[in-house]
Amino acid sequence: MNRIPDLAAGDVDLSRPVCLFEGDHAVYWVGSEEPSPFRCNAYLIVDGDRRILMDPGSTVHHFPQVRKRVEQLVPPSSITEIIVHHQDPDLCDSLPSWLELAPQARIVATPRARVLLPYYGFSADVDWLDVSPEDSTTLDLDHGSLVFITAPFLHFPEGYVTYDEVSGFLFSSDIGAAIEKDWRLVATDWERHWQTMIPFHIFYMASNRALKGFLKKIEPFPITAICPQHGSIIPEAHVPRAVDSLSNLPCGLDLLYPASNIESVLSEIL
Ligand SMILES: [Fe+2]
Ligand SMILES: [Fe+2]
Repeated sequence: MNRIPDLAAGDVDLSRPVCLFEGDHAVYWVGSEEPSPFRCNAYLIVDGDRRILMDPGSTVHHFPQVRKRVEQLVPPSSITEIIVHHQDPDLCDSLPSWLELAPQARIVATPRARVLLPYYGFSADVDWLDVSPEDSTTLDLDHGSLVFITAPFLHFPEGYVTYDEVSGFLFSSDIGAAIEKDWRLVATDWERHWQTMIPFHIFYMASNRALKGFLKKIEPFPITAICPQHGSIIPEAHVPRAVDSLSNLPCGLDLLYPASNIESVLSEIL
């Protein structure tokens, strides 16, 4: 059962893990509280014997908090997969610490991120699940599958997101993220929240073409929440507006190298 609508309505105890989806296939927020607007939303899926940790955060800023929240749910040694949506330090420089706790865990990453991740200080000889650029990679669980969808140049050239078939949640990494001082777990006021998403996307995302291409790819998936790595979770009620707003946002190269007047006119008449 999707608990995000209830969480939007009330006060949430963020000192503990927060259940976002209840059942035999459960999803938890296990992220961090910190004064920086770059605070980290880590997530944990528990499905039978599978314990899947997502974007566990940085060593210094996030690891102690994320570990504490995970420990309140499952032994960290039982983690079976660590999903790393791209290689940024705020998202995963804690990988060596997690691999000490769960040396058998498989790391899910795209091939281009896989090349970079061991530079954080662990052996490349760990178990990997490569996410195909063809979007054909899934992780089959007792209850449904996780589907991995690449998001080229949003913002890493070979970044990806994870769609959870059971909950309908899209774990979107930096896409849909917001930099906000007055953070709450679930966004309630869409217009206010969108204002906090705009600066992040303008600076980090490559172009509107990249955004539109990705949004087209996720059209077939019924999304019941967008769970980003920074900022509030976007509940189902706001998902259509989030998709629409992002698909119309000029960003990155659109703003740095705008089309000339001639190109603009031609693109309208051709
Ligand atoms: Fe990033
Ligand atoms: Fe990030």
